[in-house]
Amino acid sequence: MASALLIHQISVILSIIGFFVRGIGHIFDKGWVTKKPAKILPHIIDTALLVSAIILLVIGPWSISEGWVQAKILGLVLYIFLGLMAFRFAKNRLQKAIYWLLALIVIFYLVAVAKTHLAIPFA
Ligand code: HEM
Repeated sequence: MASALLIHQISVILSIIGFFVRGIGHIFDKGWVTKKPAKILPHIIDTALLVSAIILLVIGPWSISEGWVQAKILGLVLYIFLGLMAFRFAKNRLQKAIYWLLALIVIFYLVAVAKTHLAIPFA
């Protein structure tokens, strides 16, 4: 339980740092963004994030019927969608930057949801 939470927390931090840095590289058309490490590492980190989340749900006292857990699942889907838009479908620098920024807002919202156990943490 404690180690699943630790893996979840570490992968959250790595995912945020990775997304932030890759986004800047992508917005400014840096060559390293298309190289293997920048392509593969996020998948490894995000798999660890998701697997640890599932383990937490299975072994922890939390349930999928709780609003904040549902908010995290929805938020994760939104984060993935915005990431896809930013990295694959955005047509110009402005679009890339907007989708990247929106995804960052969503991931920080998810951290707030996790910390407060509230679907609307800022109310
Ligand atoms: C990008 C997606 C996610 C982010 C940024 C995120 C963030 C976090 C953070 C920062 C914590 C630690 C909270 C603390 O230190 O007190 C946490 C805990 C947790 N997360 Fe996530 N999470 C994500 C995805 C998910 C998903 C998809 C689920 C479940 C479907 C989930 C379930 C949980 C659970 C059950 C905890 C334990 C809460 C506690 O210790 O009180 N997370 N999450």
